[in-house]
Amino acid sequence: MNAPIRVAVTGAAGNIGYALLFRIAAGDCYGKDQPVILQLLELTPGMKALEGVVMELMDSAFPLLHGIEISDDANKAFKGANQAFLVGSRPRTKEMSRADLIMANGPIFVGQGKALAAHAASDLRVLVVGNPCNTNALIAMNAGREIPRDRWHAMTRLDENRAKAQIAAKVGAVPGAVSNMGIWGNHSDTMFPDFRHALVNGKAVTDLCDRTWLETDFVKTVATRGKAIIEARGASSAASAASAAIDHMSSLWHGTPPGDFTSMGVCSNGAYGVPEGLIFSYPVTAKAGDWQVVAGLDQDAFANARIANTIKELESERDTVKDLLA
Ligand code: NAD
Ligand code: LMR
Repeated sequence: MNAPIRVAVTGAAGNIGYALLFRIAAGDCYGKDQPVILQLLELTPGMKALEGVVMELMDSAFPLLHGIEISDDANKAFKGANQAFLVGSRPRTKEMSRADLIMANGPIFVGQGKALAAHAASDLRVLVVGNPCNTNALIAMNAGREIPRDRWHAMTRLDENRAKAQIAAKVGAVPGAVSNMGIWGNHSDTMFPDFRHALVNGKAVTDLCDRTWLETDFVKTVATRGKAIIEARGASSAASAASAAIDHMSSLWHGTPPGDFTSMGVCSNGAYGVPEGLIFSYPVTAKAGDWQVVAGLDQDAFANARIANTIKELESERDTVKDLLA
């Protein structure tokens, strides 16, 4: 058994938090030999509900759960954190785009970025889930600039999982048969789910699916799935979002399988012409907490147009929050 790691989760009494904490405690993220201490942050009015979640975590008697700490103060909740899931923030309603949340949610990530830089462990890795997650991660990274830039992540794994599920359903395979499915850009309608390199049991998706379907219905379904869920459930995705957060941090911790890649919103160093410093989702490989953008993926006019569009949107979101980046 390894020494326990400290895992901070914000918005711990919320819908995603409720689906996420039990999976982390069960060993679904860091493995069955990795104990965890959960450090949970909520707003003051959410603390009572969080106490109920803590009772349920205790009552689950998870062998790997070596401690639970709760606070409404980020400076306490992030103390010594090795891993952080930044979930706490408002979800959108069906009339809104994710970008409409920037002014409500952006400021949260200034304080939390600073608190992480001041109190977290030196090996910290951070996943921003709260929307709009790319720009919130940008805000947190700027506020916590003592933390190396490659430690900050935004979640587009849900988009990757959705893309895999759509392709699997189309060709009559299971989602686990789909590999090399990359998401480029923003976690928004402008993202590019890149079917061009994806494989089903090693066969090119472009040979198995109609190109027009891939370029139209497939891209649109993946890019607008969050809204479709809000319209159907009356609330934004929660269990699938928690599952994707587990997948993201698990891939970072355990590494990606040989020959495959995944999607992570990370700080651009200019790869594929993306302006340096934007938090941009790329196809990446990961190993032991570090990641690398997959090099040499060929681009075509369709991909270039979508990538240019999603860059433009991220630049515009960055302009909107420029006062939070000072
Ligand atoms: P929710 O409203 O059910 O829960 C959010 C929780 O966060 C609440 O308990 C609230 O009290 C708490 N909170 C708010 N501000 C906080 C702060 N400053 N510090 C600590 N806690 C705070 O919402 P949810 O369904 O859990 O969604 C959370 C966020 O995740 C939303 O912004 C949503 O849009 C986003 N989301 C992202 C993805 C993705 O793929 N990146 C997927 C689904 C949802
Ligand atoms: C999602 O993709 O399901 C989330 O980002 C929630 C939303 O607002 O779409």
